[in-house]
Amino acid sequence: MTNTALLERRNRLFGKGSTLFYEQPIQLVRGEGVFIYDESGRRYVDLFNNVPCVGHCHPHFVKTVSSQLRTLNVHSRYLHQSILDYADRLISTHHDSIESVIFSCTGTEANEIALQMARLATGGRGIICTDATYHGNSAEVSKLTGAKSNQGDVRSIRFPETYRTDAEDPLNDHLKELQLVIESFREDGTPFAGMLVCPILANEGLPNIPKGYMAEAAKIVHQAGGVFMADEVQAGLCRTGMWWGYQMMGVVPDIVTMGKPLGGGIPLAATAASTEITETFRRHTRYFNTCASSPVQAAAGNAVLDIIEKDNLQENVTTIGHFLHERFLQIQQKHKTIGDVRGHGLFRGLEFVTDLKSKTPDKQAAVRVVNALKERGFLTGNAGAYDNVLKVRPPLVFSKNDAEEFLDALEQTLEDLDA
Ligand SMILES: Cc1ncc(COP(=O)(O)O)c(C=O)c1O
Repeated sequence: MTNTALLERRNRLFGKGSTLFYEQPIQLVRGEGVFIYDESGRRYVDLFNNVPCVGHCHPHFVKTVSSQLRTLNVHSRYLHQSILDYADRLISTHHDSIESVIFSCTGTEANEIALQMARLATGGRGIICTDATYHGNSAEVSKLTGAKSNQGDVRSIRFPETYRTDAEDPLNDHLKELQLVIESFREDGTPFAGMLVCPILANEGLPNIPKGYMAEAAKIVHQAGGVFMADEVQAGLCRTGMWWGYQMMGVVPDIVTMGKPLGGGIPLAATAASTEITETFRRHTRYFNTCASSPVQAAAGNAVLDIIEKDNLQENVTTIGHFLHERFLQIQQKHKTIGDVRGHGLFRGLEFVTDLKSKTPDKQAAVRVVNALKERGFLTGNAGAYDNVLKVRPPLVFSKNDAEEFLDALEQTLEDLDA
């Protein structure tokens, strides 16, 4: 079927407005490692997908999940060893006070559970998030998207960053704002429950965060009686070169949420915390999630961990991530539209601006680069608070060769666009 016919059918069946990438959407039919192929057999290098984090259709992943599908596929209300083995393995990658886990299927659900846990553990209601975040799309979690700073149960603070700030001391400037918002809850009698934040501020555009911010913010939250929640849905599972983004940021959260890459494409998400927090949640809710904690989720989760460990992917992320960053800095020198280069491990961002002095975000430039790269066979995206950040987030198996191929294409693209 042609792309035009598929698009027409999709609009009719899904309703117009369902999100699609690229000015000319692509039809994907097959994946292998860092490559994905369209219906004509054209090869694209995938620099965007963090769900098949160990590479598309990794043989060990396919074999393990298929074997489980052939053996048993039931929901969570039976005893089964492999989901407990997986829970143990997952918990062991976290700090000591993360002792138990509740499985679900999406990042949204994991965050929904975290918000309920925070409220039950503290007896509070008030939640703090950043002003350019996304944590999911349920009725409760979506209150964190576009939350106001001074009203409601969910209130926002400006996301902490060093690129656009005029403050002499950005760290204290942002911490003061957090204290003020906590104070605003106190003033109108809304008991405070906690703060939910992606430790590397992925959706905000991976800004450089003032050093020490997350640890200091957690201290302030604790002093006010709240819990500190790290959303690892994008930041986690070795994306930064460390198991979890909070480890990269030097903070110890009370509750951690995980999703996207966890199941390598099989829906698998998790909310982890101390036994005390988890059991308080269990006592007050009768939480049940039909497709979660299943043997198939366990097979997928275990296979992903097997590959990360066996193929040394954590080291690969650090090495290739560093290589990309150094080359991005060189490329930035040649292009006055690249205002900032940042990120961690294999999660990098190039911020496009109209000029280096005003730092005015240039979304159109980022969109042009994304579409031109796609025409050359490299799939990236644009994101961030102003949608002007070129988002580079390849599978964790991305090699130096892949990186070199991509960097050449990026340089050519920027030259051609005179960006
Ligand atoms: C940081 C973060 N948290 C949570 C979510 C929601 O995850 P899901 O789409 O699996 O519900 C997303 C999705 O993009 C996300 O970026």
